[in-house]
Amino acid sequence: MKIPVAVLISGRGSNMAALIEAAKNPAYPARIALVISNQPDAAGLNTARQAGVASLCVPSRGRDKQSHEQALHAALTEHGIEIICLAGYMRLLSPWFIARWAGRILNIHPSLLPAHKGLDTHARALAAGDQIHGCTVHLVTAGMDDGPILAQASIQILPGDTPDTLAARVLAEEHILYPATLARYLTENPLPDRPPAP
Ligand code: GRF
Repeated sequence: MKIPVAVLISGRGSNMAALIEAAKNPAYPARIALVISNQPDAAGLNTARQAGVASLCVPSRGRDKQSHEQALHAALTEHGIEIICLAGYMRLLSPWFIARWAGRILNIHPSLLPAHKGLDTHARALAAGDQIHGCTVHLVTAGMDDGPILAQASIQILPGDTPDTLAARVLAEEHILYPATLARYLTENPLPDRPPAP
């Protein structure tokens, strides 16, 4: 039986689309059961709708973190979600939320972690004079871009590269790495126990 996965987005949702596409394969161990955006106008919400995937906005604006995360947790639980994939989700999750989903949240980050945590990773890789750049899929823990690394893909930085050219080449790798890593994670690891309800 396919494991129900939710993808959390804040914008474009191209990694979300790659996960939806991969999960169409009957042999893929997950199904993308839900897409949630914290931004009502995220382009990825339309993409999900067009792909026939349930999608909703759990807005973060105008409310405190705790009530936003409680609403998020309720929506995920209601939809029977077992695993969460963050894909361009621009909110830091609290220790409370992460504890509820320990070992069940993956993220993709556009750098070779632990290098370049946070934003503007492509410009920072160039400024640092890096020769190799890439992306990382990791488990989410309470520290930002900090959890155990599950997989990485790398590209070479070439003369003349700009943040935009790097972003495009890294993104192409992300679209391959994320679905492959989610599948491997689900196949190789039993789902961790859930903590008792608070
Ligand atoms: C990706 O580069 C991802 O690594 C980062 O945010 C970007 C999201 O892009 N976390 P998209 O919304 O998946 O197109």
